[in-house]
Amino acid sequence: MMMKMLRSVKRSGLRGHPGLQRALRPSGSLATHTSEKPSFVSAAVSPIRDCDVKQVSLSQKGRQVEVDFSDGTSFTFHGLWLRDACRGKHWVAEVPGEKILSRIPTATGCDGTVRSAAVRDGELEILWGSSASSTSNFSGGFLRMYAPIVGKPSKQTVEKPLEAQHHEKKADFKWLEPYSGFHGVPAPAKDQLELWKNQGVRDQFQHRDFTKVRGDNAANLEMMKALMRHGVLIIDGVPAVSDGHDGSLVRDFTDSCLGGMQKDPARTDANWVITRKEAAQSISYAQDLRLNNHSDQSVPAHGIPALCLVVHYVEGTGTNTLVDAYAVAEAIRERDPAAFKMLTTYGSCQERDYVRSRVDSTQAGTQGMLISTKKPIIQLDHLGQVVRAQYNEVFRTPVTLSFDKFEDWFRAYSLWVEMIHGPEFEVEVPISAGQMLVLDNWRVLHGRAGGKSSPNRTIMGGTVVREAFMSRAIQLMGATYPVPDYA
Ligand SMILES: [Fe+2]
Repeated sequence: MMMKMLRSVKRSGLRGHPGLQRALRPSGSLATHTSEKPSFVSAAVSPIRDCDVKQVSLSQKGRQVEVDFSDGTSFTFHGLWLRDACRGKHWVAEVPGEKILSRIPTATGCDGTVRSAAVRDGELEILWGSSASSTSNFSGGFLRMYAPIVGKPSKQTVEKPLEAQHHEKKADFKWLEPYSGFHGVPAPAKDQLELWKNQGVRDQFQHRDFTKVRGDNAANLEMMKALMRHGVLIIDGVPAVSDGHDGSLVRDFTDSCLGGMQKDPARTDANWVITRKEAAQSISYAQDLRLNNHSDQSVPAHGIPALCLVVHYVEGTGTNTLVDAYAVAEAIRERDPAAFKMLTTYGSCQERDYVRSRVDSTQAGTQGMLISTKKPIIQLDHLGQVVRAQYNEVFRTPVTLSFDKFEDWFRAYSLWVEMIHGPEFEVEVPISAGQMLVLDNWRVLHGRAGGKSSPNRTIMGGTVVREAFMSRAIQLMGATYPVPDYA
């Protein structure tokens, strides 16, 4: 285990980082992450551990299987669904997690007809009709999590509302489902979020401790949940770094605790560096000036920006401005429905050259990269709930709306700009060296107050795509949970 830990430190480039080593030494916490991380989490790993198969019966000449579970529910499965869902070693290559192509139903001609079914040690054991030699075993936990989605509830089960037909473990995954990326998946439910305005206090945001989050899996998972509930977290106790720091600390934190920093093809390092530059051409590097509130566009895969943003104050102090765009969107929906309609229907044209926009950076660009997006500033799911805000004024390009729509859209856009910079919603947050600011970039806009940065302010940071965030969360939770089809 020690060799594994050393290799991990070496790979992350932190072996010579005394600050991080000091911070992690008391609990041996780097090893904790390495040793406790589950090896494999897949669709076959159920978080339900306390639900057995109690009884099984066949109907429709073996084409359907009714399963009674130990929690009192009963569901009927298609035999073919069960045959197609086989996940044991005989059906799926264990390490790569790949289905064995010669054994899939279409290759074998198996129509899912069950010859016999039995309960064995709390599991369902099936002998398939088409091949006397092949059997499949399904744990109660595996079947129970899929049952309300793919099964037909029995008479007494169907009397419960659909949500109550699910096992109680489903609730543990509710916070994560909106970030699954699956088609039609709804935005975060209202009970999963705490929207905020400017409360007029010095510091209204929650803090977490770097060493604890970096060194303990439970604290890491709690941090991720809190981040999505509040939209903002401030990480304290970040180890001090010396002049010439290479960004390895913020990369390590992001890789370890949030699933990995996004890499863009236009720069060698995953992280960016922003430090003061005299006569900077880009507003990002002119640190004395006000930088308007915006969402980071990162490299928006399919037009969708990264889910999280991490900013490490390496040196100096500054004041960031933050806005809960979900709260602003709800206020616009209520106060000016016509403006809300314009902002959620029509796209805002943006363009960014990922090398030219970093002309003032200390980091060299590698290859040219020009990305254009045209998404609504406020994006909704099919139920009309806010999924994301996507807006950065510096990269806005000429509006392409037709003559008859332009004035209405521009009025709505002007209201948006006014509200996200107004005292009702904008919050100023002083941040110093030794702290990190972590944001939900789909929800919280960020900017910089003018004239409030120390001359030596140096920040390093980067973005985390949705996929990386999900991957880390699922590994920390040790299982995943099936998401129904919303189409
Ligand atoms: Fe930014």
